[in-house]
Amino acid sequence: MTIDEKKIAYSEVRSQLISVLADETDSILKMATVSSVLKDRFPLFDWVGFYRVTSPEHLTIGPYQGFIGCLHIPFGKGVCGTAATTRATQIALDVDEFPGHIACDARSRSEIVLPVLANGELIAVLDIDSHTASVFDETDALELETLVREIF
Ligand code: SME
Repeated sequence: MTIDEKKIAYSEVRSQLISVLADETDSILKMATVSSVLKDRFPLFDWVGFYRVTSPEHLTIGPYQGFIGCLHIPFGKGVCGTAATTRATQIALDVDEFPGHIACDARSRSEIVLPVLANGELIAVLDIDSHTASVFDETDALELETLVREIF
């Protein structure tokens, strides 16, 4: 996908999600719907889902699409735990180069994880994995950050 194609795809996804979720408040419902729409629209997104903050410093798997994921991730561990601790988007162009990367699926080659905040509070991280290396870039980071800000 070129950068322009990506921007068009994200724009379509955002319009669809904003319209479908306009009157919704349930965060699990939103996570399930966002996972479904992103997985369906981007052919190189092989796993799309959320890890929810379920207790202090602990992430538990939430709604997702794709191969079975790891169930629990402590803050600070792997790409997800790092995004949760730093509250900053993490991009692993090559997961083998990311210190402490947790391999739930050995086919995963690249990954992006971003924090999801609601009313200023960290409620989850959005995790997207690809079986292809170097799939994610700054366009994905900016578009996905905008998307989660508008939805949650
Ligand atoms: N690779 C992630 C774990 C979650 S799975 O990719 C679904 C990580 O290192 O945090």
